[in-house]
Amino acid sequence: MKIDLSGVLYGQLKESEKKYYDALAKNDLENVKKFAQQCANIEKQLADKVPDQAKAHLEKAKRWDEADKKAGTAPKKRMVEKGEKSGDTEEDFSGFGESLIQTSTVTWKDIGGLAEVKSLIMETVVIAGLSKPESIKPDKGILLFGPPGTGKTLLAAAAAGSLKATFFNVKISSVLSKYFGESTKLITALYESARSHAPSIVFIDELDSITMSRDGDQGEASRKVLATLLAELDGFQDKKSDKLILTLSATNTPWSLDDAVLSRFPKRIYIPLPDKKACQEITKIQTKGLDISQVDMEKIGDQCVTRNYSGRDLQNVCRDAMKSMTRRINKDIFDNIENMAELSFEELQKKTLKAGPLSMEDFTQAITRIKSPLTPDDFKKQEAWNKQYGAS
Ligand SMILES: Nc1ncnc2c1ncn2[C@@H]1O[C@H](COP(=O)(O)OP(=O)(O)O)[C@@H](O)[C@H]1O
Ligand SMILES: [Mg+2]
Repeated sequence: MKIDLSGVLYGQLKESEKKYYDALAKNDLENVKKFAQQCANIEKQLADKVPDQAKAHLEKAKRWDEADKKAGTAPKKRMVEKGEKSGDTEEDFSGFGESLIQTSTVTWKDIGGLAEVKSLIMETVVIAGLSKPESIKPDKGILLFGPPGTGKTLLAAAAAGSLKATFFNVKISSVLSKYFGESTKLITALYESARSHAPSIVFIDELDSITMSRDGDQGEASRKVLATLLAELDGFQDKKSDKLILTLSATNTPWSLDDAVLSRFPKRIYIPLPDKKACQEITKIQTKGLDISQVDMEKIGDQCVTRNYSGRDLQNVCRDAMKSMTRRINKDIFDNIENMAELSFEELQKKTLKAGPLSMEDFTQAITRIKSPLTPDDFKKQEAWNKQYGAS
């Protein structure tokens, strides 16, 4: 199991930064040096532990290294908020935005079906990216809705991957729950990071978690988050800026969106279950590089549609089929698995797992094993909502 040490390190960093600034205030040069070095070390460890943000951490480490010799180069102390006791450093939320950065190598070609949706998003991305007259405003944000596993996250990742933009993947529920009462600061930190890493695609998942209708603190937090989010979206649209920051949002349950949220996302795109042709395309994508000439793609398409498979279900079917094929082709290894398990990693690495053609039987077996979690009512509900509220 991977153990995430970054949280502990962030805590230590905060502590050392505080000591550095205390020493600096007292002109205690010995400790200034000591704590600058400590901060540099922690930043280097963070670069190691959080590979997605390695560059930012190494940059900060470098500044701390220099701060050790020359005052004034240290990463800035955050401003103290109004009302807070002065002398206390503000909770540093900058790490939050940075922690949401994911590297996306997904491209449009990795998505099966959804041709219309793809071109709609491409269009939005291109318009947002192009230099244009001031009066032409790009869309503020797009809402993707539909059953789970249909490729909403994948579409956002492809937009980022193709543009070589920084990809921020944010679950709204984590913003609302993470630091109680601090949600708006998290949103601000998120967009601060998006600005500094532009071009950026900000993907806001589980938009339905913002519910105004809830009473008490939860509803209050939602209201504030929505207001901040909308201010950020408006800000980008109105500020004349050559920085591209595009927000895509998603929900599996569009009917639970509040009117207030809905009205601010005028572009709402339905991401349906794949049709026959899309199922075939997804199967090809998910088995890329393998021989599928023996597979009856007509049958696969028909069966997947009948079984209401999503792209994710199809991915599972393909994985399952590939596993059967691997077992069949590498009988010598699998019939002998207990002896193989005795081998050291080094010895195992000398052996190769072979791949052969996937058979129809591999798929038929996989299809019987994998069941869609959806009921017909689920997507009837999606379709009805699309008819009434969907808009592109
Ligand atoms: N249209 C598609 N083309 C190719 N793969 C897909 C497609 N839809 C879903 N998948 C596969 O299923 C996985 C889950 O999809 P995801 O985008 O996370 O769904 P959602 O965000 O709509 O719940 C993807 O990582 C991908 O492997
Ligand atoms: Mg998703």
